[in-house]
Amino acid sequence: MDSIKNRIEELRRLLNEYNHQYYVLSSPTVSDKEFDMLMKELEALEATRPDLADPLSPTQRVGSDISKGFSQVKHIYPMLSLANTYSVEEVDDFVKRVKKEIIGEDCALVGEMKFDGTSISLVYENGRLTRAVTRGDGVQGDDVTANVKTIRSIPVQLQGEGWPEHFEIRGEIVLPWKEFDRLNAERQFNEEPLFANPRNAASGTLKLLNPKEVSRRGLDAYFYYLLGENLPCGSHYENMMEARKWGFKVSDAMTLLRTMEDVDRYITYWDTARKELPVATDGLVFKVDNLRQQLNLGYTAKSPRWAIAYKFQAERALTRLQYVSFEVGRTGVVTPVANLEPVLLSGTIVKRASLHNADIIRTLDIHEHDMLYVEKGGEIIPKITGVETSQRETGAGAIAFVTHCPACGTPLVSAEGEAARVCPDKYGCPPQIKGRIEHFVGRRMMNIDGIGEEMVNDLCEKGYLKDCADIYDLTADQIKSLYVKGDRIAEKILKSIEASKSMPYERVLYALSIPYVGETGAKKIARASGNIDRLMSMSEEELTAIDDVGPNIARGIIDFFADERNRTIVERLRESGLTLATETVDEAPASDILSGKSIVISGTFDRHSRDEYKQIIEHHGGKNTGSISKKTDMILAGENMGPSKLEKAKALNIPIVDEISFLQMIGEE
Ligand code: IVH
Repeated sequence: MDSIKNRIEELRRLLNEYNHQYYVLSSPTVSDKEFDMLMKELEALEATRPDLADPLSPTQRVGSDISKGFSQVKHIYPMLSLANTYSVEEVDDFVKRVKKEIIGEDCALVGEMKFDGTSISLVYENGRLTRAVTRGDGVQGDDVTANVKTIRSIPVQLQGEGWPEHFEIRGEIVLPWKEFDRLNAERQFNEEPLFANPRNAASGTLKLLNPKEVSRRGLDAYFYYLLGENLPCGSHYENMMEARKWGFKVSDAMTLLRTMEDVDRYITYWDTARKELPVATDGLVFKVDNLRQQLNLGYTAKSPRWAIAYKFQAERALTRLQYVSFEVGRTGVVTPVANLEPVLLSGTIVKRASLHNADIIRTLDIHEHDMLYVEKGGEIIPKITGVETSQRETGAGAIAFVTHCPACGTPLVSAEGEAARVCPDKYGCPPQIKGRIEHFVGRRMMNIDGIGEEMVNDLCEKGYLKDCADIYDLTADQIKSLYVKGDRIAEKILKSIEASKSMPYERVLYALSIPYVGETGAKKIARASGNIDRLMSMSEEELTAIDDVGPNIARGIIDFFADERNRTIVERLRESGLTLATETVDEAPASDILSGKSIVISGTFDRHSRDEYKQIIEHHGGKNTGSISKKTDMILAGENMGPSKLEKAKALNIPIVDEISFLQMIGEE
């Protein structure tokens, strides 16, 4: 008897069950500590038995660093949309119509929430999740299985019994309000663009190329549609109740409704009650319950005749525009902001709303002192959706976008194909300079405690700070000159400036405000480049070979270091003793075993990340290249190497080396 195998299987079953209790039922039966201990035990056992590896094991659900991009998959049943309406009368008409078409039989309806997320189709075979595909164009979508696997409320191994051998289930992937707020707060802090609503955040997250990041974001999923040949029941509602027993999250709001009065009551109730739900909803869906009746009603080209969506009205207010202000950010982008007469909307007072860019002002055709409609539906951030032109003052002029920077007077430029207008005077425009310094000292960057927005402003006004390198030349007297009792404050600030010198290289990279380089990007770039001198000399091709670095980021980096002023800042930071290299990089090559070899990395790995393999190759004298050609000497192939790469490698007769053999080759195994 194989006792390790048995224990591994038992642990997998237990951990799946505990995940279900925690993420679906919200009623855990074990402590976090106990859960973690079982997980550790499973990890340890799995490490001893690679032959029992399973991509669906609970240990694999945190996601790996890398994904292969998404391949397109055709849906077994096309993913249709729903006919929708904002009016209760039209829902009533729908009920009358179906009751009329199904004469002589009872016709029950199912009322359910319309979740405002991104739809997903999951395929299960023999109780195991085999594929997760986005809606795409309805006919085919992206295979996002690696990302979906990280969503803990989705069962990867079904529980209970009675599930068909092969079936599909559809639902909505959502980002709960709590996680949405957390994510946006984090993004605001990092000066990354905010997600307008949980729907955009959910679909953006699902399309991330890094499953580990997906796993961190806290996605959830609700299911509402079972498809397949041998479904357990002839009722949609009963099927969903079965699916719940197999481990799927099915909303408690799903209810059988018999009469039109039931339907109307359901609408009245949820119109307000939905605001208490942990996730965003944008309406209700009513479906004919009986599957045979559904079949008889059939489909139009776009949607089923057996269902209708009732959409909630977004909350809307009308208020007067006082004036439009134009604000300059750290990156020089000028944002128009509508300053409004304060108005109450969904419980908060709205005074300002971003107009985003010139295109939006033009499309809405906003004039001075116009009465504007402000909405806050699923959108957390108030949005101007229209103008009440009947109340326009005679002679009011159209709002024109400023042609010059409101802060420094420089003529604005607009990048080709982009709506944004930008002040190009990066080094002379005060809000840009101050913004970069504020960013540099921020908590997630150099974490210089005691210097905040106001102090950066004062130090700049006094002429003590012109760029971030000046921070390291600040004196106690300069800081003290800002305050009546400045001794203690100056001491504290100088101490934290000193401490910032040991911040790792990746933080410095992020702090520098290199266009498009965010926190995660900086980490990857730091790891791949090893030190700033190497980074400064990297070509566009070398940069885009780094995980998640696209042409925009690469250009941002090249242009940044091409500017003399930025190179001077780097030199001054170096002289001040900042960390400009990763600690692990050992400059001397470990061997020359791969000398002159051009190696392509493909697939996913267990022992090291792709970036680490890239460093290892360079460390042993080889070169990592992006695509397979006649010049490629070897392919380091992990799991799931792309089929086209495999084909090409075979055609060119290039040796394919697996992870373990590679490690043996360089003497690590
Ligand atoms: S049923 C053939 N039920 O709304 C009908 N859809 O406008 C398939 N949605 O693409 C959809 N909640 O992403 C259905 N309870 C629910 C839903 C729901 C949200 C989404 C879904 C669909 C879109 C249709």
